[in-house]
Amino acid sequence: MNQINTMELTSSQKDIGTAVELLRRGCIVGFPTETVYGLAADATNPKAVRRIFAAKGRPSSNPLIVHLADIENASDHVELGYVARMLGEHFWPGPLTLVLPAKPSTTVCREATAGAPTLAVRIPAHDVALELIGCLGRPIVAPSANISGRVSPTCASHVRLDLGGRIDAVIDGNSCPHGLESTIVEIIGDGVAVLRDGAIPRTQLASVAGTLLRNPLRPAAAPGQLASHYAPSTRLRLDASTGQHGEVWLGFGSEATGADFNLSELADINEAAHNFYGMLRAADQKAASKSYQIIAISVIPQTGLGRAINDRLRRAAHDNAAL
Ligand code: TXA
Ligand code: MG
Repeated sequence: MNQINTMELTSSQKDIGTAVELLRRGCIVGFPTETVYGLAADATNPKAVRRIFAAKGRPSSNPLIVHLADIENASDHVELGYVARMLGEHFWPGPLTLVLPAKPSTTVCREATAGAPTLAVRIPAHDVALELIGCLGRPIVAPSANISGRVSPTCASHVRLDLGGRIDAVIDGNSCPHGLESTIVEIIGDGVAVLRDGAIPRTQLASVAGTLLRNPLRPAAAPGQLASHYAPSTRLRLDASTGQHGEVWLGFGSEATGADFNLSELADINEAAHNFYGMLRAADQKAASKSYQIIAISVIPQTGLGRAINDRLRRAAHDNAAL
């Protein structure tokens, strides 16, 4: 793919200034957050937001997350009730996205919300992201900076490989500390429903939300949480006890001796989350180079961030037959 038209920026003050100027002009820019790399546009500019959907090949019915500078800034755009304020004050800046009623006065354009009466908002815990939002002085919409439906990016080179030539610039801010997307919750009445498991595990949410955290009666999911998502090109075999001949083996824990890649030899689930998308991409490349048809993946425990990793794995494996 032609990557020539995508500027490579660093996280220096000067380069962040360049990125802000690009965003002001309606351009789209890849940037690091504490979860995964995002693809930024000025949330108040419908043309710029439409360019995001086009670059990713994302259905226009799938709304975007609005990234803001602080909780007061958030209250300009959404109705922050008591529960939302409590969660925001505890987890922000950080990897929690709250789905809340949009205020009629919000400057976020309709293209960003796909016409929904709600807005998904978060305050990222990353200096580069906060500086971009602060210097632009406007909300930034940012989906993960990958082709729609494919593996999320956790470093700038992933963004260049996926979207080089289709976006105006990418800021290289090293690898993302968490490595998994934000946890998305919706406040429904006096209950808190998890729409997407992510970088804040349910136990941590429960320590603040207490009994408000409930499993809703109907299965709740963000509109973009499709059955098939986060998928590499190679088929996945989940819950493998070992890799077989002709497979690339993505292991977990000290038992996975001989694995091609190990998410965490110490069986540390946070380390596994940090490594997850990068190793899935590396395993995919290795499979392609050896003409292997399958990536075997060890059992990942369902504890802590394991729940979010297993959610991504199930969706990544969903379309196996079609690949
Ligand atoms: O960590 C993250 O959340 C990253 C970084 C870049 O901030 N962003 C991210 O965006 O993961 P994206 O677009 O890849 O996933 C956002 C999810 C989608 O599943 C979308 O359907 C859901 O958020 N979403 C956005 N607005 C929503 C709304 N108003 N109600 C329910 N779900 C919403
Ligand atoms: Mg995404």
